[in-house]
Amino acid sequence: MASEFELRNRRIVLGLSGGIACYKSAELVRELVRAGARVQVVMTEAAMQFITPVTMQALSGQPVVTSQWDAREPNNMAHINLSREADAILVAPASADFIAQLALGRADELLALLCLARPIERCPLLLAPAMNREMWAHPATQRNVAQVKADGATVLGPAAGDQACGEIGDGRMLEPLELCDELVAFFQPKRLAGRRVLITAGPTFEAIDPVRGITNHSSGKMGFALARAAAEAGAQVTLVAGPVHLPTPRQVRRIDVGSAREMLDAVLPRAPQHDIFVATAAVADWRPASAGEQKLKKDGSGRVPNLELVENPDILATVARLPAGDRPWCVGFAAESHDLVRHAREKLQRKGVPLIVGNIGPATFGRDENQLVLVDAAGEVELAPASKITLARELVRVIAERFEPRGA
Ligand code: CTP
Repeated sequence: MASEFELRNRRIVLGLSGGIACYKSAELVRELVRAGARVQVVMTEAAMQFITPVTMQALSGQPVVTSQWDAREPNNMAHINLSREADAILVAPASADFIAQLALGRADELLALLCLARPIERCPLLLAPAMNREMWAHPATQRNVAQVKADGATVLGPAAGDQACGEIGDGRMLEPLELCDELVAFFQPKRLAGRRVLITAGPTFEAIDPVRGITNHSSGKMGFALARAAAEAGAQVTLVAGPVHLPTPRQVRRIDVGSAREMLDAVLPRAPQHDIFVATAAVADWRPASAGEQKLKKDGSGRVPNLELVENPDILATVARLPAGDRPWCVGFAAESHDLVRHAREKLQRKGVPLIVGNIGPATFGRDENQLVLVDAAGEVELAPASKITLARELVRVIAERFEPRGA
């Protein structure tokens, strides 16, 4: 979910064309405003059959514009004024007919007119299609979508699923929260475009028997935030996640694992296909030497089972020791309870990685905020306390700056 102020002061023209998904646009405008955007709603005649301008005005806090003949504009040129003032135009829902108008460069109504009149280099156009699956799949629609993409529009979705008509398939508009996230991502600098990033996140779970195990308090939030930030920055992201209850960030490929050995098995064969590896996971250091196949039972004597532990493989150190041609550029995390910088520096050496990101474990596990210190051969840099997504974006900036491609 886009947090407060992620779209602070962004001026968004939110266009609605006709479709039942207009009911979702009411929530979308709320989300955009909550994220700090200034939203000007523009509606077509058809959109007004589905939702009223009154609703959209109340939620956006701005009178809705519906016609190019609107005499309120002093120069009577709503199409010019609106597109000159906007940081982006988002049309949600974008109907099949509206996309067809755009593909032809038609300007039958204000919304299509202002899309046509926008300064194409400065004012991006994003479209969230919403229509019946047959309409979406129709060759004419697919041709039009390809054309508007070629003309510079960004198409968000559509999603697959239940449709208002009772059919199931492609053509649903993305949900308001997803669209808001897409818009936030759209505005992030594409610092990792073309890079492939592999991330581990969360705790691991080392089974003692079928009902118990050893794990830790890691929530996975920092690793998931980093996956989101890397994807926003244009990277192809693979996220290997231990047992956590977090939604997968958009555009991220997720692989769920349980134990440290499963995490290693997921990471090791994939590492050579990635440019950057970031190990945020709080991997359990030890596992029971043998997991019982049946639940361990008390025998009534008060004796406790003798749990023999063995050390888990070190995933980060294993990847950092791959031959140069297979080795991604590695970043480790250090979760400490004390002497953060000393321990982080020691891990930099021991794991043989160019960058360690230190944080205080008990102060970060489960929280939405964090405080990081970056430790490398040159010294230390502290990142001020902030939300995990803010820190993750900052970290992506640092990684993009310092990253050295294989063989460099
Ligand atoms: N790590 C790993 N595999 C392990 C242990 C740690 O990949 N078996 C990675 C973590 O993902 C992190 C870094 O190594 O990027 C440091 O992890 P941390 O738990 O802080 O340190 P440990 O290596 O476990 O050392 P210690 O227990 O002494 O703090």
